[in-house]
Order: sequence, then structure tokens, then C-alpha cells
Amino acid sequence: MKPKVYVSRLIPQEGLDIVLSACDAEVNADDTPLSHDELIAKVRGKDGLLCLLTDEIDDAVLGASSQLKIVANVAVGFNNIDVPAATRRKVLITNTPGVLDHTTADFTWCLLLASARRLAEAERYTRAGKYTGWGIMLLCGEDIFGKTLGVCGLGRIGRGVAKRAQGFEMRILYTDAVRAPAEVEQELGAQFVDKETLFREADFVTLHVPLLPETHHYVSVNELKLMKRTAHLINASRGPVLDEAALVLALRERWIAGAGIDVFEHEPRMAAGLTELDNVTLAPHIASASVETRTKMAVMAATSLVEALQGGRPANLVNPEVLA
Ligand code: GLV
Repeated sequence: MKPKVYVSRLIPQEGLDIVLSACDAEVNADDTPLSHDELIAKVRGKDGLLCLLTDEIDDAVLGASSQLKIVANVAVGFNNIDVPAATRRKVLITNTPGVLDHTTADFTWCLLLASARRLAEAERYTRAGKYTGWGIMLLCGEDIFGKTLGVCGLGRIGRGVAKRAQGFEMRILYTDAVRAPAEVEQELGAQFVDKETLFREADFVTLHVPLLPETHHYVSVNELKLMKRTAHLINASRGPVLDEAALVLALRERWIAGAGIDVFEHEPRMAAGLTELDNVTLAPHIASASVETRTKMAVMAATSLVEALQGGRPANLVNPEVLA
């Protein structure tokens, strides 16, 4: 008998095919997130769950099926899952690291470039028919080349962002809980500094820390006040890492010049006032959204799901202690 699984949202077909070929799968074909209660009802009697970051996988969901073996999250971040509860219940959790690093680093630069050069504002202006004549000061932004980039979190994505900065001949600062190996610093030309120095000296601060209790509101009023008035803040990590109400204040009162934001504290809602500001470039959590990468993520998660349900050890286990 094939294992029973639930797929909580539509995923790219290549991933779905892997699940469908090996499992008796029920798929939420609506592509809208289920409510918590609906998800619990769907997980009942299932051996596996393939879910997205919009699903809150708490102890109640994990306990909904006594035979649940694996939750495969189609995302690298897994802050939507109560991992200690899963480990207690001996449910394997997997994520999709690695395959989205380049795409996310590319998009971080997309936000950085757009914010520095006021691209979203310029697009709105042009589309609205306001371009009635060229002006020497029209929509002037900030230069990027030769400036200082501050990378918070020099993991895989942060390194990708730093690497791309070399092409812009930037000075690269980084801060992290743990200093990177000397050869990584050397290859990237990145200098390790404390958080305060980074916020004071960088022209562009970009966030690549995971969401953990200690990184909640990693950037708030204090950090925003340390930044230069010409600086930009970029966040393509997780929304709660940044105090969004403080960001609205900083942008409105021009403590900083601009921001590029892909993730929000309470997605899909945004802090009051954010969308009214011209000096912020907003995106709906699409940093890894290329067809190729989203397909790779779905295939990776589906492969892990099937491996675990066939008794193997899935790659990208977040809680390997379950198998110890
Ligand atoms: C996207 O945000 C991810 O964590 O994969």
C-alpha cells in the first residue's frame, strides 16, 4: 500500500509528479493556504505532509496523525515549524537549502539597485504620465559602485550577495554570530565588524540572518538611527527580523534614504503606512521565485518526502536526532 500524504498547496508539477508516483496523495489544488483547523483535518491519517512556509506546523498539526513520519517544507527557512515538537513526536523535518541561494542573492541585488536608483518610484511616475520633460535633478538616487555594503549574516545567501558586490567595487563589511573562515573573508574581500560599526558605516545594509528568538527585531529604532541618512536597508530574509513599524518611521522621517523589502512581519499584511511611502520598494516574498529555482525546491522537498516514507534517510534533515 502506498503511503498517504497531504500536499498543502499547489507546487511545480515536477515535484508533484514525484509525490504522485510514490504516494497516495491528496493535494490542495486551490493554491490558497488552509486554515489551521482545515490543515489539522487534512493531516489526520496521513504518513507525510508536504507544506509551504505559509503553513503553521505547530504541535496540534504534528499530533493530528499518529502515523505522521515526515513534514517536508518547500523552503529553506523553517520558522513556520515547531521543530522541537516534531522531534519529540519523532516526525522528520526537511527543508530545501542550497538550491535558492543564487536566485535569492540576485533578487537582493534587484531590491538594492531598485531602492538606490528609485526604480519603483520612477516606474510609477512614468506610468502615471508624469514624465513631461527631462530634468537634471529628476529622480536622482544614490550611487552603488565604490560604496560600502554591510551584510548581516554571512551564510550561503549573504556570501552570494557579497560576491556580487565585488563587481560594483564595493567595500564589504559583514557581521555574524560566528566569524567566517579566513579564506571566505579573503575570497570575498569581506571585513568582519561588530553590528554597530556595520550600521554606522554601510551605505547599503542587507539582512540574511535566520529568524530565531534572538534575531526577532534584529533591526529596530536603534539600528535605523545608526544608519546614514543616505543609506538603504534591504530585507529578503524573514519579516520579523525587522521592526516594520520602526522602518515606517525611519522612512517617513528620512532617517534613511530608502528600503527594499521582500518579507513582512505578518505576511501578507504590512505595517500601517508602509505602502504610502515612496522611498520603499516592496515585493511579495519572491526572492527565490524563478521558475527554475521554485521547481528545484519542489523536487527537493518531494524527494525527501518519498525517501523518508520509503524508510530511507532524507537529505536536508533539520532534526537528524529523530533517526539517532
Ligand atoms: C523562502 O523564503 C525560503 O525560506 O525558502
